[in-house]
Amino acid sequence: MTGAAGGIGAAAVRSLAERGYRVYATVRADDAVSQALAEIQNVRLVTMDVTDPASVAAAADTVRQQTPALHAVVNNAGVIVQGPLELVPPQELRRQFEVNTFGPAYVTQAFLPLIRAGKGRIVNVSAPTARVPMPFFAPISASKAALEALTTALRLELEAWNVPISVIEPGSTQTRIFDKAGAAAKVARQHADPQRVRLYSDHLARIDKTQAGMRQDPVQPVAEAIVDAVTARTPKRRYVVGGARAIGVLLKLPTGLRERLVMSSLGLRGAVAGR
Ligand SMILES: NC(=O)c1ccc[n+]([C@@H]2O[C@H](COP(=O)([O-])OP(=O)(O)OC[C@H]3O[C@@H](n4cnc5c(N)ncnc54)[C@H](OP(=O)(O)O)[C@@H]3O)[C@@H](O)[C@H]2O)c1
Repeated sequence: MTGAAGGIGAAAVRSLAERGYRVYATVRADDAVSQALAEIQNVRLVTMDVTDPASVAAAADTVRQQTPALHAVVNNAGVIVQGPLELVPPQELRRQFEVNTFGPAYVTQAFLPLIRAGKGRIVNVSAPTARVPMPFFAPISASKAALEALTTALRLELEAWNVPISVIEPGSTQTRIFDKAGAAAKVARQHADPQRVRLYSDHLARIDKTQAGMRQDPVQPVAEAIVDAVTARTPKRRYVVGGARAIGVLLKLPTGLRERLVMSSLGLRGAVAGR
């Protein structure tokens, strides 16, 4: 389980460990939060930064020394990079794809021999924005859409070895991911050209207001969906959780209507260009 230090990953680690699975919980820092995880029965801590192929390879070696086979790999680590695409700094755009898209690819490459040996499976945590991209969330939307494209192609590539791959699609969920994204976006905005930031002042105020009032689902149903994908005899291709279920309805609508609804849901209908 990558990104096990908090939020959905930590909840899924606990749920799997309670059911008796030995869980390799991967974290970036061996800090107090990680140590609390390590104290749970059946949990083993492994340090890994998913954006660094050398770190991923070292983590795979560590796990290989402890077990010859894995039942599942869960690519959960993720970040949100948000803001007007015009103002997103290149390094932030790269970080978005490094963590959400390249990370799961590196992890899958490194762990596939252990997965094959265990007749195992892969579970990738995506987001609704993969299927319905959101304005001012272009980086996260694009990174998860790319993750889903990798997932679909890989599922077919691995058919001969019968390695199932599932996508988990949580709705907006109570974790720290939005606070972290908001803080990073604020820093990016401080370094951007103030004149260009002003162009978006109405849009950004509306997005902030919408985010402040956004309903967020509890974390446990997402953790349970991951447990289902890990334990089901025949795992589903996609597990849609909580508010993400509305995406199925949105996708059936004509594009123009869907786009108007997306703008309304973010409070952006009628937003005006700043000067
Ligand atoms: N919360 C939601 O509303 C929501 C909705 C849809 C999808 N998701 C997806 O759910 C997954 C889990 O997110 P969450 O909501 O639980 O957020 P979270 O609490 O912020 O957890 C994300 C985890 O990813 C880890 N991570 C970030 N960069 C990493 C890197 N370079 N290498 C390894 N680990 C890294 C974080 O570690 P650090 O603590 O060290 O930063 C953290 O443990 C993500 O893929 C996210 O896109 C979340």
